[in-house]
Amino acid sequence: MVKQVTLILMAVILAAPALASERTWRNDIKPLFEAKCIQCHDASAPEYNDWELLDEKAREETPPRMDTYPHFMSYVVWPATGAMMRRLDDGKTSGKTGNMYQYLGDSDEERAKNLLTIKEWLGEGAWNLNRWKARKDVPGISKEQLEKISAQY
Ligand code: HEC
Repeated sequence: MVKQVTLILMAVILAAPALASERTWRNDIKPLFEAKCIQCHDASAPEYNDWELLDEKAREETPPRMDTYPHFMSYVVWPATGAMMRRLDDGKTSGKTGNMYQYLGDSDEERAKNLLTIKEWLGEGAWNLNRWKARKDVPGISKEQLEKISAQY
């Protein structure tokens, strides 16, 4: 009995740090999004699928909607696979800094910290810049890559 209690206690203690560091949309990403992105990507912005139909010039000036968990995830998983990662990347994954990286913070330090928060939330190995389909010599996203996405609500 004592041995069982000890084992259970040990299991709880060992599990605690893992649970504490689990990032969620509600606790970590929504507040970050509301501080840094919502002024442009709010509920009044067009749905991705409508935005896609705009001509190139209008698209450059119009931010698409991404203010809820399912909206946000559509730029991670589908239909805009990898758009979130391509636009927020600091240049270390592909050599090209994404044009939304600047909005992650006012200093290099703040931008790096917020990027890390998003990367940790998406999950280890989930920061992939691939599209749904191959483009030139970049392969389309694989099922193995998609399975890395944790992105807890
Ligand atoms: C000052 C306004 C503004 C802010 C702030 C802003 N964006 Fe954007 N965003 C835009 C505009 C305009 C576009 C469309 C033009 C383009 O593609 O660059 C866009 C496009 C994007 C796209 C590409 C969508 C696609 O399917 O290609 C992503 C992803 C994105 N933003 C994410 C973010 C995130 C995350 C933040 C906060 C860290 C953010 N943006 C902050 C204006 C903004």
